[in-house]
Amino acid sequence: MGRLRFLTAGESHGPALAATLEGIPAGLPLTADQIALDLARRQRGYGRGARSTSIERDRAEILAGVRHGLTIGSPILLLIRNRDWENWTRVMQVEPLTDEQASELAALVEAGDKRATPITRLRAGHADLAGASKYGFDDVRNILERASARETAARVAAGAVARALLARLEIDVWSHTAEVGGVAMDPDRATRTREEAEASPLRCPDPEAETRMVTRIDEAREAGDTVGGVFEVVARGVPMGLGSHVHWDRRLDAALAGAITSIPIVKGVEFGLGFAQTRSFGSAVQDVIGRRNADGSWARASNNAGGLEGGISNGQPIVIRGAVKPISTLPRPLPSADLVTGEPVQKAHYERSDISVVPATGVVAEAMVCLTLADFVLDKFGGDSLAETLDNVARYRARLARRSFVRPGGGASTAGAGPSAGRPSTGGPSTGGPSAGKTSGAAPAESE
Ligand SMILES: Cc1cc2nc3c(=O)[nH]c(=O)nc-3n(C[C@H](O)[C@H](O)[C@H](O)COP(=O)(O)O)c2cc1C
Repeated sequence: MGRLRFLTAGESHGPALAATLEGIPAGLPLTADQIALDLARRQRGYGRGARSTSIERDRAEILAGVRHGLTIGSPILLLIRNRDWENWTRVMQVEPLTDEQASELAALVEAGDKRATPITRLRAGHADLAGASKYGFDDVRNILERASARETAARVAAGAVARALLARLEIDVWSHTAEVGGVAMDPDRATRTREEAEASPLRCPDPEAETRMVTRIDEAREAGDTVGGVFEVVARGVPMGLGSHVHWDRRLDAALAGAITSIPIVKGVEFGLGFAQTRSFGSAVQDVIGRRNADGSWARASNNAGGLEGGISNGQPIVIRGAVKPISTLPRPLPSADLVTGEPVQKAHYERSDISVVPATGVVAEAMVCLTLADFVLDKFGGDSLAETLDNVARYRARLARRSFVRPGGGASTAGAGPSAGRPSTGGPSTGGPSAGKTSGAAPAESE
């Protein structure tokens, strides 16, 4: 991340989760209610366990960076209190234990209290073994408390702030469930409106497929098992020109792929046609370029590239799919081994768990896409205040519509106005940095 940075903190059963977000321009309207909408969406979805649907009921408090409902340019601090904390105060106590408290805890362990007992029966598919080995713990709780996807609630809260910024630029990000347990939606049967899909059990636009997805989840639950699936995130209204072909770490596709695969449980990512294009001829895959429209957008015959070419947004909707593996914690646990003794055990540890989390992971992915796009927007357009960012974006959009460009060796032109009118530019865009939209010193200024 460059212009927009964020960090999260907090353990799953600690007092709270927190997110700090730095780089959001001043003057953006922001309330806790806006953030609550996305937090609630993350908690829904058929196949989630009791914790998600009842205990969590998340709400983020805004503790810094906002005054009278507007951001003021300083870091934004968001706090989500863990509602279950009261049941964990001793086990997850931050302060050192007094002798009395240590005895109290030891008595709980003696009595077989599950919360208090150190976890040593390793769960495959989690950070348990590698994490405990790496950090040198003999109690896996020190690892799972942070590795747990509960942390993604803080990301969703931060993502909601990024979403509020993108909304001002008319950029919209939404996800749906495309597949669960091998049952895929059929785009031709996707008859639901966005509102209808949003309200459905799995946020799936194809009602027929959704019924079968629900059945798959029920079958898994009855068998003591879990199922995975695929979510799809679509970002609309993204201006052409975010990211760059010039260097690996400026490519928008790479940043998005990293952001999506940073979500615990996501094991693959594809853009547009994705892996399917490897099985087609090139002639069937490329998105034929039609004409330039009056507003500066370009007609394309398809969007197989998923809105990204050469690491740059091309003005088409950005389409990303993520592969969600089946949940690792099985209600009917697999055999495993003990971290301390190294001996086999009959059953891995069981921590209250979901059966399937595809829709929720889609919401987390929306947050990661919003944060990544907001970062790239701010990198390109800059702006200490929202007004400044919006001005810069508007000037850039107008410039794209006018099709004015810079020639190598200096000089600027506007399509239809000069000798090179209508011909493609051979030079790079002049608006690559935070000074976007302003006249640059290197090339002669364009007439506005
Ligand atoms: C929203 C969400 C909820 C999750 N809930 C669970 C769960 O209840 N049980 C579980 O074992 N894993 C759950 N996971 C996945 C684990 O956090 C993840 O598989 C684990 O941390 C290991 O990381 P890895 O799968 O990326 O290797 C969830 C993931 C997400 C995004």
